Amino acid sequence: MNQLNGKVALITGGTKGIGYGIAEQLLKAGMRIVITGRDKDQTYKAAYELTHEGGKVLPLAADVRDYAAMEAVVKETIKTYGQLDVLIANAGVGHFAPISELTIDQWKETIGVNLTGVFHSVKASLAAIKKAKGYIITISSLAGTNFFAKGTAYNASKFGLTGFTQALMLDVRNDDVKVTTIMPGSVSSHFGGRSPEDGKDWRIQPEDIGQMVLDLLHMNPRTLPSKIEVRPSKTSSS
Ligand SMILES: NC(=O)c1ccc[n+]([C@@H]2O[C@H](COP(=O)([O-])OP(=O)(O)OC[C@H]3O[C@@H](n4cnc5c(N)ncnc54)[C@H](OP(=O)(O)O)[C@@H]3O)[C@@H](O)[C@H]2O)c1
Repeated sequence: MNQLNGKVALITGGTKGIGYGIAEQLLKAGMRIVITGRDKDQTYKAAYELTHEGGKVLPLAADVRDYAAMEAVVKETIKTYGQLDVLIANAGVGHFAPISELTIDQWKETIGVNLTGVFHSVKASLAAIKKAKGYIITISSLAGTNFFAKGTAYNASKFGLTGFTQALMLDVRNDDVKVTTIMPGSVSSHFGGRSPEDGKDWRIQPEDIGQMVLDLLHMNPRTLPSKIEVRPSKTSSS
């Protein structure tokens, strides 16, 4: 996908954090963007801020756990822009607790958003992305390959997402659809109730993940980095 100007990307969870950072970078490359989030006001506010230097951003409130809502997002995208080239399945939540304290609702939300939500986003977008010979990128995590205490729900969701994305890649690669999962370590964001300012000096910044997405989209069509681990170059204690 060498010419990105005018191409259309749908970013789930684009209201803040990594999704917002990706949106900023894709807009700078001249792409037209759709961002989603759960709350209409927050989604519109983020779109307003993203467009202060120009560019086209369509804000749509949709919970990724609701398949019909994701179908409506894709329909609205095609109605507005006429095409959909790139899906960034980014929306995610983090609940971290020992298994004895993890609640049923926390488990359901984590699996529902981080795993089933990505399935919904892909399923709703796939026909349009196939038509465009486009690109699907999921945001997994290093927690999708390394397990840790208090991580039962999050690890399960991200290990699942890593496996889902790799199998999806095999399903659609011969349809000229590229699929990559990015597995970040610590990124400055609102994730898990953190503030973006916490550990800002050593964490990855959202725009760095945005730059990585641009690099993938610019990659020669014959080459596919299908699974990428990315971590801060130094640890918090160094
Ligand atoms: N930050 C890290 O250190 C880190 C590391 C590895 C992987 N990740 C992954 O990166 C992705 C983005 O996280 P982040 O760090 O940017 O966190 P964040 O700042 O909390 O942003 C999360 C985004 O997901 C959206 N979202 C949450 N639940 C949703 C739902 N049910 N439906 C639609 N949108 C929903 C939020 O939108 P609203 O709140 O407006 O609904 C927000 O835009 C997640 O998948 C996370 O697991 C993060």
